[in-house]
This record gives sequence, structure tokens and C-alpha cells, in this order.
Amino acid sequence: MVVLVTGAAGQLGQSLQHIAQSYPGFEWVFCDSTELDITSTASITAVITKVKPHYCINAAAYTAVDKAEAEPEKAHLINAMGPENLAKICTEHGTTLVHISTDFVFDGTQTTPYTETNPTAPLGVYGASKLAGEQTIQNHSKAYYIIRTSWVYSPFGNNFMKTMMRLAAERDSLSVVNDQIGTPTNALDLAALLIELIQKDSAMEVHPYGIYHYSNEGQCSWYEFAKAIFEKNSITIPVQPITTDQFPTPAKRPAYSVMDKAKIKRNFDIAILDWKESLLTL
Ligand SMILES: NC(=O)c1ccc[n+]([C@@H]2O[C@H](COP(=O)([O-])OP(=O)(O)OC[C@H]3O[C@@H](n4cnc5c(N)ncnc54)[C@H](OP(=O)(O)O)[C@@H]3O)[C@@H](O)[C@H]2O)c1
Repeated sequence: MVVLVTGAAGQLGQSLQHIAQSYPGFEWVFCDSTELDITSTASITAVITKVKPHYCINAAAYTAVDKAEAEPEKAHLINAMGPENLAKICTEHGTTLVHISTDFVFDGTQTTPYTETNPTAPLGVYGASKLAGEQTIQNHSKAYYIIRTSWVYSPFGNNFMKTMMRLAAERDSLSVVNDQIGTPTNALDLAALLIELIQKDSAMEVHPYGIYHYSNEGQCSWYEFAKAIFEKNSITIPVQPITTDQFPTPAKRPAYSVMDKAKIKRNFDIAILDWKESLLTL
């Protein structure tokens, strides 16, 4: 089984590289943005023609949520045109596309977990560009999985956990938003899920293609997530809960973005760790 991974230097890409060797039966081709640029059809075609992957995991994205407000064209190019290019070229070559999307496609007005069929209404440029990416894949491909995930953290790249650890080393106390509720996702768990999904999909006669939600189980606020990170790392620092209004950012974020994972658990027979338990495994 040949699997191509785009965006291999990002935190999901590095997480996949970290665990890939534990899964026999796969031939992995990891490409960073210099080796495969998803905004260039020539770049994608050159790699796919050479590698002939059965699956392509698209871990490439523009992920700077606040910066995207000032760079909508760039966000759209990478998060919408990139997936469109991949969907078209994967379709031509019989490659199944496994694409990653986000909880930020929702506006956060629900108070119960979002299912895959709940209406989308992104609040910012990043969410809108990711939603456009989902839509173009649906328009240009039949063999695709779109996995929406949330609050991704890992030992690799930039993420909330690493920001909290850095700030704790620099400051005497911290204030963290307590009125945005979501679910952290350990990128190593997400990477394992993607590999399991590919293993199971490849053995299926009828493929349950479509959109899926995946994060760890449970829910928390950013404040609760920060407290758990400090507890796990035995860091003692006063942490003040604050409201979103007290911490204005260029991009608006959903107040509630917990996702219902019944569909992925049912179709792929997987178990998911609670976010607190998974944090302890890092
Ligand atoms: N991080 C989160 O909290 C979060 C939450 C929900 C969903 N997601 C989704 O999860 C996926 C993985 O996110 P992540 O956290 O691993 O992101 P990340 O660490 O920012 O990595 C993204 C990677 O994409 C690469 N990239 C950017 N433009 C590219 C292009 N034109 N062609 C090829 N590669 C390109 C970047 O490379 P360069 O640095 O060289 O540009 C970077 O290595 C993304 O689809 C993201 O939208 C993330």
C-alpha cells in the first residue's frame, strides 16, 4: 500500500512520520512544501505520476487562523485551490484522497455536539477557506474522506500546548479564555486514526466515503486545557480564566465546537481516548 503525505513538515505530517514505521504493509512517501506544492498542478502531477499512491493524505494547509484575516487570497489558494488540485489529480490517477478539515467550519451556536450533517457557517477567513476546500473535493472527487478535527496539539510544530509551555517559562501568571468550548486532539492519535482508516478502507468492498468528525473524546475550555497541560508537566503557575471579550483576536472563533464522532466510530469500528487520558500519553 503506497501512501503519499503532503505537508509532511507540519505537526500532523510529523506525527504520521513518527508512527508510520509501526504499521507494516505500507510504503510511505512524505513530501514537505518544497517537494510537493499543493497549489501547483504540475508539482502534484509530477509526484503522483512517479509514486502512484493508493492513498494521499493531505496534511498541507494554511493554518494561521488570525493571520488569514489579512491574507484571504493566500488562505483560499492553499486551503481551497490546493484541495481542488489534489482532488482532480487523485481522481485521474485512481488515488483515494484523505483530507483534513476543521471544527472552524461551524459558527459555534449549537450547545450539543456537531454532527457531519449540521449546517456550516464559518466565522472567519480560515474556516471559510477550509469549507471551500471541503466543497471542491466533494465536487471533483468520489473517492475521498474529509476528516474534520479540532484543537490539534503534538510535540511537533506550533500549537496551543507548546505556546502555554513557552508562556509559562516567560511569565509569572497567565490568563486563558474560558468561554470557548471544544475538544483537544492529540495529533499522534489523529495520525493513528488515519492509518487505521486507510487499512480498513482498503479491505472494504463498499467504501463509506464522505465527511467524518474526529477529535479525542470529552470537552473543555482553553483554560481547562491549559490547566491540564500544566498539571501534566508539574508546572505551578497561577492561571486566570478570562472571557473571549477580554482577549480579542483578529479572527472570531466558535464558542462551542465539540464534534459528534458516532459516524467514524460506527463505520470504522474505532475506539477514541478521552482528551485528558491522551494528554498523559505524550
Ligand atoms: N492545528 C490545529 O489546531 C487544527 C485544528 C483543526 C484542523 N486542523 C487541520 O489539520 C491539518 C493539519 O494541521 P497542522 O496543525 O499539522 O498544520 P501545520 O503544522 O501548520 O502544517 C501545515 C503544513 O502545510 C504546509 N503547507 C503550507 N502550504 C503548502 C503548500 N502550498 N503545499 C504543500 N504544503 C504546504 C506547511 O509547510 P510550510 O511551513 O513549508 O509552508 C506546513 O508544514 C490542516 O488541514 C488543518 O487545517 C488543524
